[in-house]
Amino acid sequence: RDVAVGVVGGGPAGLLLSYLLNLQGVETLVLEARSRAHVEQRVRAGVCEHPTVELLRGIGVGARMDAQGMMHHGFSLRFDGRDHRIPLTELTGKCTTVYGQQEVVKDLVHAHEEKGLPIEFEVADVALHDLDSERPRITYTDAGGVRRELRCLAVAGCDGAHGVSRATLAATRPRVYTHDYPYAWLAVLARTPPVHGELIYANHERGFVLHSIRSHEVTQLYLQIDPREEVTDWPDDRVWEECRLRLTAEGFGLREGPLLEKSIAPMRSVVVEPMQYGRLFLAGDAAHIVPPTGAKGMNLAVADVRRLAYALRRLVRHSDPRPVTRYSESCLERVWQVQHFSALMTGLLHRDPAADDFARKLQLARLHNLTTSRAAATSLAEHYVGLPFD
Ligand code: FAD
Ligand code: DHB
Repeated sequence: RDVAVGVVGGGPAGLLLSYLLNLQGVETLVLEARSRAHVEQRVRAGVCEHPTVELLRGIGVGARMDAQGMMHHGFSLRFDGRDHRIPLTELTGKCTTVYGQQEVVKDLVHAHEEKGLPIEFEVADVALHDLDSERPRITYTDAGGVRRELRCLAVAGCDGAHGVSRATLAATRPRVYTHDYPYAWLAVLARTPPVHGELIYANHERGFVLHSIRSHEVTQLYLQIDPREEVTDWPDDRVWEECRLRLTAEGFGLREGPLLEKSIAPMRSVVVEPMQYGRLFLAGDAAHIVPPTGAKGMNLAVADVRRLAYALRRLVRHSDPRPVTRYSESCLERVWQVQHFSALMTGLLHRDPAADDFARKLQLARLHNLTTSRAAATSLAEHYVGLPFD
């Protein structure tokens, strides 16, 4: 079978790219390893930047987000036992929207379905061929066990950090920048009403904790833990005890409730340069990973895909190869801005087990500066709500 663009991976990056391309008259096929139910229920990021929200709304997939997402006009940095609010809207004129990544995925899958755009779920053995030619091929086994071949003009590698696209590109020896952090996150979903209407990022000497929101009844908590620990090291009692200690503040009473989910997310930064080889173009987690503290992973994927959609349209519809040639270069400035912001938020909020008392005092001085200088707070807020596209 022939298609203009073969999209490997049906996460936020692959689905949004496919939808954008089809809006511009470029035919795609999305190949996704997991089932539809699996990708629609995979709970991950929760914060949509302003530019992400505008883009989704602009292409007509924002109705449910507008109805169910929660606009956040500020967030708190909690340290020294009290909250220091960053008033996002006051400082930038923009806000963020708390709307789960799996909801964005559901909306995009549904939009494909409505327009009759193809997504093949549960494919296996995906392999990429002839990437240095103008007719690359993708081979795979479909859900029915039949071997297939897809011929296309370009392959979009949107299959995350552990997919075949990153691995294939790695064989061409790109430059890979990585940084591992000496901590991990325990993500906990609790059936208890959030005690505060905005997100709280708490710096505490016992370690970082983030108090986030899923709904009026469900709270999402993330706790800094030792990366060698496992979920079984964190029985419910220990989770609540640690949350209470780290979130201590006057008038703040955390209400315990049943824990619905517990998982561990490692903290890493990765950038692959360039994000392309021949006719293979990486987008989203396939090209880069950010530590989750800045809430940027999905948003950065959206920014890549917006550029890739433009470049692929120029290639496919106008036989103009110049934008695809510059694709990686055009993404990397934002990628490094977002890496910088994510590393900054991470360093500001976590307890580094190797840090001395001096480093700890500097961390608090930085937090004081951010919450007392309007200029410093504005810079933080600009990154948090999302740098404008272009
Ligand atoms: P993905 O969402 O990973 O999508 C890739 C898709 O490709 C998947 O559907 C996968 O099944 C599919 N795939 C993989 N291999 C193949 C293959 N060989 N063939 C076909 N399909 C394949 N960000 C935050 O901001 N906050 C968070 O709290 C947060 N938590 C996270 C927790 C975890 C466990 C992970 C992994 C990520 C988290 N992130 C978080 C990051 C954020 O979710 C990602 O940045 C975002 O999902 C990137 O979207 P993507 O489409 O590039 O990749
Ligand atoms: C959420 C995740 C983040 O990484 C973050 O910085 C803020 C919120 C969340 O899942 O709610």
